Amino acid sequence: MILILLGPPGAGKGTQAERLVSRHGFRQISTGDMLRAEVASGSAIGREAKAIMDRGELVPDNVIVRMLDRRLAAEDGHDLILDGFPRTVPQAEALDRLLAERELELSGVIVMEVDEEALTERIVGRFSCASCGASYHDKFRPTRIDGVCDRCGGHEFVRRADDTRETVLARLAAYHAQTAPLLPYYRKMGKLYLVEGMAGIEAVTTAIEGILSGFARGGVHAKVMRAD
Ligand code: AP5
Repeated sequence: MILILLGPPGAGKGTQAERLVSRHGFRQISTGDMLRAEVASGSAIGREAKAIMDRGELVPDNVIVRMLDRRLAAEDGHDLILDGFPRTVPQAEALDRLLAERELELSGVIVMEVDEEALTERIVGRFSCASCGASYHDKFRPTRIDGVCDRCGGHEFVRRADDTRETVLARLAAYHAQTAPLLPYYRKMGKLYLVEGMAGIEAVTTAIEGILSGFARGGVHAKVMRAD
């Protein structure tokens, strides 16, 4: 199964991807995480991407598509969640081509609908474990024991360089200008599904699982809205 999680910054794509990985055995492909790893390693891609990411703009399509192509080859045969990719129509067209070359089919695109005013609070409160990457939030998802990672017991936490109020505005502008056109693109393909992203984290997972069980039965559950 190949699933895309789509939504503006802070919509909860990474949070839901992490839960679907642990509960349903998906592999997560997050282009944001891949780029942050390139930045941390000081590679040529990382050096090119860093300033762009810090401004809240999108990294060029050719760089992203090359990275994704290599990663798809490494994940051959697994159920995949694409988190943060595609983000432009040319990226979506490239994905269609890469999947066709591998005789794979996109199962669906889940759009997390959110109230944009809430996104800044979600983003500036986000932090993650420096050792295992588990994601938390000061208010919405604190660690169970203050200062200790629930997953690995680590004591060091990091915040993303682009999680500032100013950069959130630029990231949202990029979403509207370059990523939102993917909604009609996938609606036309009959692949678009909407979930209410403002619900609690568990409720959003339940809604996504409803869509997944519809796929498993060969059709989508009547209660789940397909956006066509
Ligand atoms: P990327 O890392 O993909 O960031 P993003 O899309 O801006 O998304 P976020 O990671 O900020 O949000 P999310 O939706 O995953 O939310 P999360 O689950 O963490 O991209 C970063 C940059 O890399 C881009 O700006 C661009 O420069 C570049 N890039 C990446 N991919 C690219 C591509 N394909 N093309 C070009 N450039 C690319 O949740 C946020 C917080 O809210 C968390 O703390 C969480 O605990 C909390 N939360 C989540 N869900 C809920 C809920 N239901 N209720 C309450 N709190 C919640």
